Amino acid sequence: MALLPILEYPDPRLRTKALPVTVFDAALKRRIDDLFETMYAAPGIGLAATQVDWHQRLLVIDVSKDENEREVFINPEILSREGQAAGEEGCLSVPGIYDEVPRAERVRVRFQNADGTVQERDVDGMLAVCLQHEMDHLDGKLFVDYLSELKRQRIRKKLDKARRERAGRPDAASSRAPSL
Ligand code: NI
Repeated sequence: MALLPILEYPDPRLRTKALPVTVFDAALKRRIDDLFETMYAAPGIGLAATQVDWHQRLLVIDVSKDENEREVFINPEILSREGQAAGEEGCLSVPGIYDEVPRAERVRVRFQNADGTVQERDVDGMLAVCLQHEMDHLDGKLFVDYLSELKRQRIRKKLDKARRERAGRPDAASSRAPSL
């Protein structure tokens, strides 16, 4: 397993539209393990392959407290959406920034698992929000895109400053809510 560097906004590689996964082999399973390891270490509750500069439609989520509910979604497609959920979101690619994003409360999703088996599931709550957030990553979209340009400018300045400070203090990371 390997810890992978996570791309940070405004890195243009985060804008890449990921391609479908077509090969379900041992290498894919290793990639999934690497994504989980990187996500848990960050720490975060969701990570899309795009964030580690792999441009395939693959994402992992674990919204449990004990890091024991691993969810893998490959080539996910949302079939239907219901209700509205607006909560504060963070993102490992936009560290330390949190804001409200409009999401569906429940979604029906079709996806493949690590063996390539097609499944359909209804998900809600934090898992549904996280899934929508990670699926945006696969299309090159970030949660800050839902905010005003003025807010995005402030965020870019804040992240620049944080990166400069981090260069001097390697262990200065902190967060107040789960990052996706
Ligand atoms: Ni994210």
